[in-house]
Amino acid sequence: MKRNVWIALAVAGALNTAQAADQIEVLHWWTSGGESKAVGVLKQDVEKQGVTWKDFAVAGGSGTNALTVLKTNVVSGHPPSAAQLKGPSIHDWAEQGVLVDIDSATQGWDKLIPPQVGKFLKYDGHYVAVPVEIHRMNWLWINKEILDKVGGAAPNTWPEFFALADKMKAAGYTAVAHGGQPWQDVNLWEGVVLSQGADFYRKAIVELDPKTLTSDKMVQVFDIVRKIGSYYDNGTTGRDWNLATMMVINGKAGMQFMADWAKGEFARAGKVPGKDYICAPRPGTAGSYMFNSDSLAFFSQNGSKTATPGQLVLAKAVMSPDFQEQFSLYKGSIPARIGIPMDKFDDCAKRSYADEQSAIKANTIVPSLAQGMAQTEAVAGAMTDVVTKFMHSQQDSKSAVQALAAAAKVN
Ligand code: GAL
Repeated sequence: MKRNVWIALAVAGALNTAQAADQIEVLHWWTSGGESKAVGVLKQDVEKQGVTWKDFAVAGGSGTNALTVLKTNVVSGHPPSAAQLKGPSIHDWAEQGVLVDIDSATQGWDKLIPPQVGKFLKYDGHYVAVPVEIHRMNWLWINKEILDKVGGAAPNTWPEFFALADKMKAAGYTAVAHGGQPWQDVNLWEGVVLSQGADFYRKAIVELDPKTLTSDKMVQVFDIVRKIGSYYDNGTTGRDWNLATMMVINGKAGMQFMADWAKGEFARAGKVPGKDYICAPRPGTAGSYMFNSDSLAFFSQNGSKTATPGQLVLAKAVMSPDFQEQFSLYKGSIPARIGIPMDKFDDCAKRSYADEQSAIKANTIVPSLAQGMAQTEAVAGAMTDVVTKFMHSQQDSKSAVQALAAAAKVN
């Protein structure tokens, strides 16, 4: 594969007119209201430095479509200058020899990037990607007006959650807004896995321990997920995450399980945490932090082994303190770069930051499977199929855990 890709790149390089060094094409999937506002900051920053931004946005939450387009473009010899990538997949791309190092832009970075994120950004000791932000995955979003109307409080446990959902349902609301796309199904499910403890999560999702994957606790996880499904409305099939968030914003639904990019949508709609909505760690996960971190990885242009000036401008722009702050203010995340002051951020982001710090100390910080931070594409894909199949059928929990353990062995 490595050789073929290089040949394709070389041919494209010979045929193509050299790409202008001061133009960069950036492939990403930040297309919702909050997301586009956030990525607009980067476009502005690089354009201020004389680099033309060629936007390559491919809609589809979690990059489902964008990553397919990326593969096609790279294999046909038209890689973007940079693409939104993350976790172990950065190393997969690097192994194919299609990424380029940006070392000359990375002075001092080792001290500015948290290790749980940094380990994915370097290949063979060289930086090939730059971190954009950190998202907390294990949030539950609650409409405050509905919460007050039914006299509820943010639930700390699953029994409290189901009691609250019952009240919302009885008051005529959809209790849980859900988007039935595979990655959203898995995010809901992985949050329930985490509610059994960070150690349990790590054993199951990171270490793929067969005993843990087929344990009684895992059966309970599927049972809880099955029960949560009884609080959806009828329109979940294929629903985008931001439309589900909109149901909570507009007071049609009481709650949504989603990462904090949902906060970008609340913010865009002028909603204030604590007043209009609540961000609460999902039941049973208050002491844990499930993370996802976007980065931009740099692709070799015209077969060159060195980064273009435009790519280096982009890398530095992403790591600049101003960008790290402003992007996350719009996006709902927290900066990836260490040492950015949190005073301009809202209470949810402040809590995300504080919880992340204590989770690092307590060793309760874990990577998200749904977001490609925990496993290779092959394993994550096989596990996703199991979870999605369960959620869209009447399969029983005991056979689901067997299927899960089998899926974990695909590598
Ligand atoms: C994730 C990405 C986030 C957000 C989300 C929804 O994969 O890391 O930044 O864009 O998809 O599209």
